[in-house]
Amino acid sequence: MRKKLAAGNWKMNGSAALLDELANLATQQDADAPQVIICPPSPLLIPAVAATQTSAVQIGGQDCHSAQTGAHTGDVSAQMVKDTGASAVIVGHSERRADHAETNADIRAKVQAAWAANLLPILCIGESEAERIGPNTLAIIAAQLDASMPDGATGDTLVIAYEPIWAIGTGRVPTMDQIIETHDMIRAELTKRFGAEGDKFRILYGGSVKPNNAAEIFTAKNVDGALVGGASLKAADFQPIIDALQAS
Ligand code: 13P
Repeated sequence: MRKKLAAGNWKMNGSAALLDELANLATQQDADAPQVIICPPSPLLIPAVAATQTSAVQIGGQDCHSAQTGAHTGDVSAQMVKDTGASAVIVGHSERRADHAETNADIRAKVQAAWAANLLPILCIGESEAERIGPNTLAIIAAQLDASMPDGATGDTLVIAYEPIWAIGTGRVPTMDQIIETHDMIRAELTKRFGAEGDKFRILYGGSVKPNNAAEIFTAKNVDGALVGGASLKAADFQPIIDALQAS
């Protein structure tokens, strides 16, 4: 059984006041609940860890550099993220790929840096709208997965998030057939590369997941949870998504 995971990506949103939302979530977690990871901006990692200390909610970073230290103004290393008390880190988000020209090779190195710091990387992949319309959608996603995922990955040490770029922040969601086909393809690729271990990786769906569509998305057998942007900023929106995951 793969443990279900609801991850929230606050992106460049949030403030000390928003940390109260974490406390609201924290009171509603129990041992059987899905794993919940919230990823606030770097300056909020330490207070977020403090705010969730007595709850099952875990905290993650949104990115890390592949190097341990050095002249990389504005960046943070995986160990620095770990030292805040965080336990996970998002790598390869499409906004990082676009805004910071991150390549698959960069992202592979970040996954390895996350492992070295004992963080759980949540590796994002996903196609653009033009790639979705074009004829090679699945092959493009498979190639991105293959190139950004290092050898040696296991279901315990890496989570994959499939996030179609055109569905992020747009309110547009792929059809269920598209979600099922893509997640099944990712599972098949993982099994091809990692054998029986391929069945153990968790594959999250991300892109306009909301309280009103989460339950349907979670019916897909290879959707093991969600990476949620906008709806993770309010406990009143994120909690029903967690509840839908638990019920799935
Ligand atoms: P939205 O849920 O706001 O579409 O964002 C998805 C996302 O990019 C999470 O990483």
